[in-house]
Amino acid sequence: MTTSTDQASAVRYDKDADGIVTLTLDDPEASANTMNERYSAAMGEALDRLEREVADGDVKGVVVTSAKKTFFAGGDLHALQQVQPEDAGRFFAEVEGIKGQLRRLEQIGRPVVAAINGTALGGGLEIALACHHRIAVDDRGTKIGFPEVTLGLLPGGGGVTRSVRMLGLQDALMNWLLQGQQRAPQEAKDKGLVDEVVASQDELLPAARAWVLAHADDDEVGQPWDRKGYKLPGGTPSNPKLAAFLPAFPANLRKQLKGAAYPAPRAILSAAVEGAQVDVDTASRIESRWFTSLATGPTAKSMIQAFFFDLQEISSGALRPDGIDKTTVDRVGVLGAGMMGAGIAYACATRGIDVVLKDVSAEAAEKGKSYTAKLLDKKVEKGRMTAEAREEILGRITPTTDAADLAGCDAVIEAVFEDAGLKAKVFAEAEEQLPDTALLCSNTSTLPITELAENVSRPRDFIGLHFFSPVDKMKLVEIIKGKETSDEALARAIDVVQQIGKIPIVVNDSRGFYTSRVFGTLITEGVALVEEGVDPATIERAATMAGFPAPPLAMLDEVSLTLTQHIRGEAEKAAAAAGQQLPEQPGSAVVDRMVGEFGRKGRAAGAGFYDYPDDGPKVFWPGVREHFTKADVDIPLRDIQDRYLFAMALETAKTFEEGVIESAAAANIGSIFGIGFPPLTGGAVQFMQGYPGGLAGFVTRARELAKAYGPRFEPSEWLVAKAESGERF
Ligand code: NAI
Repeated sequence: MTTSTDQASAVRYDKDADGIVTLTLDDPEASANTMNERYSAAMGEALDRLEREVADGDVKGVVVTSAKKTFFAGGDLHALQQVQPEDAGRFFAEVEGIKGQLRRLEQIGRPVVAAINGTALGGGLEIALACHHRIAVDDRGTKIGFPEVTLGLLPGGGGVTRSVRMLGLQDALMNWLLQGQQRAPQEAKDKGLVDEVVASQDELLPAARAWVLAHADDDEVGQPWDRKGYKLPGGTPSNPKLAAFLPAFPANLRKQLKGAAYPAPRAILSAAVEGAQVDVDTASRIESRWFTSLATGPTAKSMIQAFFFDLQEISSGALRPDGIDKTTVDRVGVLGAGMMGAGIAYACATRGIDVVLKDVSAEAAEKGKSYTAKLLDKKVEKGRMTAEAREEILGRITPTTDAADLAGCDAVIEAVFEDAGLKAKVFAEAEEQLPDTALLCSNTSTLPITELAENVSRPRDFIGLHFFSPVDKMKLVEIIKGKETSDEALARAIDVVQQIGKIPIVVNDSRGFYTSRVFGTLITEGVALVEEGVDPATIERAATMAGFPAPPLAMLDEVSLTLTQHIRGEAEKAAAAAGQQLPEQPGSAVVDRMVGEFGRKGRAAGAGFYDYPDDGPKVFWPGVREHFTKADVDIPLRDIQDRYLFAMALETAKTFEEGVIESAAAANIGSIFGIGFPPLTGGAVQFMQGYPGGLAGFVTRARELAKAYGPRFEPSEWLVAKAESGERF
């Protein structure tokens, strides 16, 4: 006999003839389970009944599972984004309420097992950790982990408290909490948060029942930390081994974050260490307090915006024109097997696409292919790929010098030298061989797409696909629509980018598109500060402390000083042709002297703002201080940081004003993933809109900067009007 509750409950209660109760998580009003009011009300009722029936001696054990594709999706992020500092008291109480329920479950006095049928991240994993045993199925790409830190949060539903008690401080922090690793079930088992893995859904509930039956008569049921004599694995923070390891932690963290003020890792560390010294209930309250402080603060809101909502908006196809069927490519031609072409070939081949990799010489084409071989070798060495898989991927790349091999390609991606004439020539050569349906893409980083399109026979099918270096690591691809580019070509380009596992943003044609334009303003501020006499170490540290993964002078070395001279020269030519004159660019004299007088062209030349010794990390070239730094300059750190952030944000606003970019999500994601705008800000638009006082506050501060540092910080009339009307991007 099975007795069930209402089918429409978010936590269904079924008891079978053996006395095994199954709690099935199944929110009736959503496609995934989240920690909303329906969940907590239903869980409360289920626990009331469970406690009654356990007291009556009717329950052998409990299985917790889910009827959704994923086990449980975690917290309700929409609700989390609304929580304000003044809501802290209410929020804390709600968190404690949900945690109190899980505490009741783990102290029910009968064995409780989590049957994890699909992905269990964040709150989902926290429910599973409140169970006494965890079995996961490995058949649908299930992921297990605590991604909270990547959203500026911590696992505040008991995740810190329980993982520390299961694994010890060191393993819990390093393997799960501080980096938000998402692991497949087997890996999760190896790292201690899963106990058993089964291969198919059919095996899951039988395995869970078998575990309950095997433990139904145990003398001691429950969590290890609720038993007498429980000791924290690896010892408490006063243990000599941990005492040696823990003090280094905040310092390492600071180093890893380069001094940037990410509140979440520090809160996680505090919650874990403070919690490790007290009983489980006190630890859980400490965790709730830290969680509340993160959830009510600004950083989590910004990070949730970018890393959850914006990414979701983009991956769900918001930038893709409507009414066009999804497409895939089987065979892609890559023209030019240099740094970018080789990387693009790798990205395609690893996603199952055949690649024709064409260059002018057989050596160059082979060299491009060997780039993929090297990357794959590393994976094989690390045990992340089999030798057979390596062979299969490599086998997909055909290096060639013969354009005839391009026959049958669904798309070509051109990545030859940055020269409009050469690009026209290789497209003409390719078009003779390609089917007349092939998508024509250029990876140009600076040349206007509309002009390049004039040289092909089908400008409607021509589009910019701007990859970032190194292609295998950089997730972003900026798609540039030319004047003639058709909606169909845009849809197909988005499909290609998604097929190779990258994130597309869409922009309209403009010199420097979106990303390079905005990036250029960071570089300009960096060299302007050199010109003003600021010490290079201060220039760089201000950036990393503001959360930039790479500071401006290091980045300028990376892209090379000569390239910026070239881009500047081209922009001046274009302006002159239009009868205009570009405004003086601060810092350009520094670049000219660095290159002209001192021969310091950048990283590739081994000499830029930094020296690059063979036997160690880069160091500042002493000449920068000698020739440019002034002892009596003292610009406040906050102003330097704001100059970077505001220069980039104001340029972002300008690209909206000019219609180059149209989506706030695309600007946030493009600025973070393409050009290293500090992730903790949530991206360039979120930075403006989330600024204290909103866009109006941003405008006020921009005017202050304009007064102190020059008219480039003056907000445009368009932006001021937007701020005054309260309109959002
Ligand atoms: P690269 O100099 O490493 O490679 C260019 C390759 O094109 C060379 O292997 C060359 O032999 C080949 N090539 C020249 N003429 C050819 C022809 N007629 N047929 C076939 N191949 C030919 O240059 P890189 O850095 O890979 O840049 C390529 C393109 O990507 C440029 O348009 C550049 O602006 C753009 N880009 C570069 C980025 C970077 O970070 N380097 C980032 C984004 C775009």
